[in-house]
Amino acid sequence: MSMSNKLLKIQDLELSFKMYEGISYVLKKISLELDRGEKVALVGESGSGKSVTTKLILGLLNQKNVSKKGRIIFNNKDILNLSQSEFKKIRGNNISIIFQDPIAALNPVFKIKDQFYEVNLNGGKISKKDSFLKACEALQKVSIRDPERVLESYPFQLSGGLAQRVVITMAMINKPELLLADEPSTALDVTVQNQALDLMNELTEATNTAVLLITHNMGVVRKFAEKVYVIYRGVIVEEGTKNQLFNNPGHPYTKALLESIPKLSGDGLPKHNENPPDYALIKKYTH
Ligand SMILES: Nc1ncnc2c1ncn2[C@@H]1O[C@H](COP(=O)(O)OP(=O)(O)OP(=O)(O)O)[C@@H](O)[C@H]1O
Ligand SMILES: [Mg+2]
Repeated sequence: MSMSNKLLKIQDLELSFKMYEGISYVLKKISLELDRGEKVALVGESGSGKSVTTKLILGLLNQKNVSKKGRIIFNNKDILNLSQSEFKKIRGNNISIIFQDPIAALNPVFKIKDQFYEVNLNGGKISKKDSFLKACEALQKVSIRDPERVLESYPFQLSGGLAQRVVITMAMINKPELLLADEPSTALDVTVQNQALDLMNELTEATNTAVLLITHNMGVVRKFAEKVYVIYRGVIVEEGTKNQLFNNPGHPYTKALLESIPKLSGDGLPKHNENPPDYALIKKYTH
């Protein structure tokens, strides 16, 4: 039997919720793969199943009404049904997540240094002083000028851009093998968004960390991803390299997404998305 060198291999993943009204089938046989160090985008409209996919990878869907099938193979081991104590060892260590709304990602009642402490502790042992120094060094490396002040701050005392750098630094401090980045559907400030992408690129390349980036913005996909999966209503409707997808989209939903692509402005930054996908067209081809 040959060992797979894939970092992550999701096979025939199904997810449903038992609701009062009946069963809600959310993921229908999703399969996707990431190599070590690979940058992959997962795109799809709101409610298509992107965030629940990341939650399953992190072991965060354990309610009684959840039914899941298939396999999530991480480092050659099926993690779909790991215990919470085993997931705790993986989360923040082998796999990190960034919710790209920094305000939502940081705990409002704790100083930044205390949030670094949790991550630095990581189930092991570290003194508060050593954690502070480690965090300080990491923040300095990402060009944060006054790291001591940042560490002594509460999240609300930081600008959005600075909070974003802190969140990314925190997610990367244990050099995870996989980073999940879940971008909100609401438009971020494009400059902040681009700086966040640049920082993510810089840090993940330094550690050969694979990234699964969830975004609605095809401009971001074009800038960032090597491979793309398109998800529509719990089904992967298209996958390919970025060039295949942009030059030769096969599925009508992908075409519609590409038609909604932001035009590039002179400075290379994507502009705000002015043309939403043609949902009538999508409906016509998917039902
Ligand atoms: N805990 C839950 N119980 C029941 N249904 C859920 C639960 N979590 C998610 N869902 C449903 O699963 C579907 C997929 O949700 P998910 O959050 O993954 O969407 P998404 O693709 O991330 O959308 P968005 O782009 O808006 O973030 C939605 O229909 C959602 O209502
Ligand atoms: Mg989501």
